[in-house]
Amino acid sequence: MLKVGAAPELMTTSPARDAKASNSIFPPIIRSVSALRRAAGKYRSSSDRVALVPTMGALHAGHMELISAARASCSRTIVSIFVNPTQFAQSEDLQLYPRNEEEDLRKLAEAGVDLVFMPLAGEMYREDFVTSVCLSGPGRGLESTVRPHFFSAVATVVCKLLLQCQPDVAVFGEKDYQQLQVVRRMVRDLDIPSEIMAVATVREMDGLAFSSRNAYLSSTERATAPRLFEILQETAVCLREGGTVVGEIERGTALLRAAGFDGVDYLALCDGESLQPLQLLVRGARLFAAVRLGTTRLIDNLEV
Ligand code: PAF
Repeated sequence: MLKVGAAPELMTTSPARDAKASNSIFPPIIRSVSALRRAAGKYRSSSDRVALVPTMGALHAGHMELISAARASCSRTIVSIFVNPTQFAQSEDLQLYPRNEEEDLRKLAEAGVDLVFMPLAGEMYREDFVTSVCLSGPGRGLESTVRPHFFSAVATVVCKLLLQCQPDVAVFGEKDYQQLQVVRRMVRDLDIPSEIMAVATVREMDGLAFSSRNAYLSSTERATAPRLFEILQETAVCLREGGTVVGEIERGTALLRAAGFDGVDYLALCDGESLQPLQLLVRGARLFAAVRLGTTRLIDNLEV
């Protein structure tokens, strides 16, 4: 039997109607911004510290680590699941993006999450929606050279979620390091009163960073994928041992191609805060890479 957790007054929908028989007690799901505001407001007025973990669902071990960090720092944890359509370009995988509502809810129940916010697109974006966050600084370069629309869309939806929920803490993974820096800068520049907490990348045993898009990889591609992190590590070692930035980036790029990646969008050494490209190894430098394997894009990064 499918059971739904306490606070039914917050529920605006029943979860996973087609769910198979199960004994899980799912956390309450809310779909409207006004219900989210009420619920988060109630938590705050009971002196609870509230954490928000924004996700697009298809939850994996990386997300679960964000949730553990949220629960360790706050008495209430809200997880949002929203596959934000504006951050996908026409040519990207919005329709194919993995969705597994029932499995996600089961994981969130096990993790002790208090509330799940799962709005429909129409709740987040009215038909006449015209406002967006425009940024430069860490939103320039790297991912934005390949996905120019991406960070404005991410910053806009994260800004909306932070204003809707007003969490004390919002948790993001270092796997999407540029996104993390963009969010940090936006929160600072717009005086949004939430602390941004970063959680280290969670990896499979062979080093591949957990990502919802790993589900797209064929078995041959999956076997090649861990080379991305290995080559980042090798490049970091060579840089630390005195290799020049230009030389090691060239060498690393050649290694990625030889490893079987179909394309290397970038391999770059950048400052870990401003994300400005570096010509010399300095404290706080980070390596960033994005590669293509068939139709799948993988990104990763590593502190040098
Ligand atoms: O990292 C993600 O899953 C998304 O970019 C985010 C932060 C939930 C915004 O849609």
